[in-house]
Amino acid sequence: MAGTRFTDVRRFDTIDSTNRYLLDEARRGAPEGVVAVADHQEAGRGRLGRRWEAPPGANLLVSVLLRPDLPPASRHLASAVVALAAADAVDAVAGLATGLKWPNDLLGPDGRKLAGVLAEADLGAAAGPARPPVVVGIGINVAWPARLDDLPPELTTTATSLALETGHPVDRSALLDALLDALEPRVADLSTPTGRARQAADLRARCVTLGAAVRVELPDASFEGTAADVTDEGHLVVDTPDGRRTVVAGDVVHLRPLR
Ligand code: BTN
Repeated sequence: MAGTRFTDVRRFDTIDSTNRYLLDEARRGAPEGVVAVADHQEAGRGRLGRRWEAPPGANLLVSVLLRPDLPPASRHLASAVVALAAADAVDAVAGLATGLKWPNDLLGPDGRKLAGVLAEADLGAAAGPARPPVVVGIGINVAWPARLDDLPPELTTTATSLALETGHPVDRSALLDALLDALEPRVADLSTPTGRARQAADLRARCVTLGAAVRVELPDASFEGTAADVTDEGHLVVDTPDGRRTVVAGDVVHLRPLR
């Protein structure tokens, strides 16, 4: 995208995973700003070891390579800015207001998932001279599912697409351009405390998890409470009967429908 750091956009008809591709490129020294976009992924990766599936040519499947100048405690903001830029792009191109479910899902107006973000960091590279790379991938459901019964049974109540929500086709390449455009100033903000505070404020403003009754699922435990705040590092603050807890990483379930 001209005028941004995202000028090296590599397009694939089919690839295993755009995240895997950029992590390998990062290990070979690729600079910040390389973008990989695919029509189809044969082994698309989702969060928590899940797979991310979409039929060929339907959805936006894209990853960006960042080398953010971030304190380690604020690492979550690297993925949050991609989710925020995607929300900006969906607003601008599809005319649809979305909310963010912490950590990084984009939800449609009725709380169904429109997009998911997976950040993968190559912490092994931290010892090198360059800032450690973070690959942030996002899958946005653009044309698929076209109908809710296109979805596997476990997703029919939880997922949706831009086509379904808006009732009209949405152009994937316009969406990608808008996303990269919106991402540029957000990534620039990661390098300064005021910029990070601004991104955290945007995250708070978009975050539909705030105020919701939630179950937080950690690798070896879970707990329930009310989501109270997002810190300047992008972490979720939850009020529980035992006091306030701050969640750095984990899965969140909204316990009641949003509306
Ligand atoms: C989630 O589980 O919600 C995150 C899904 C992330 C999917 C995207 S699609 C482009 C990029 N490449 C991958 O293999 N995964 C991410």
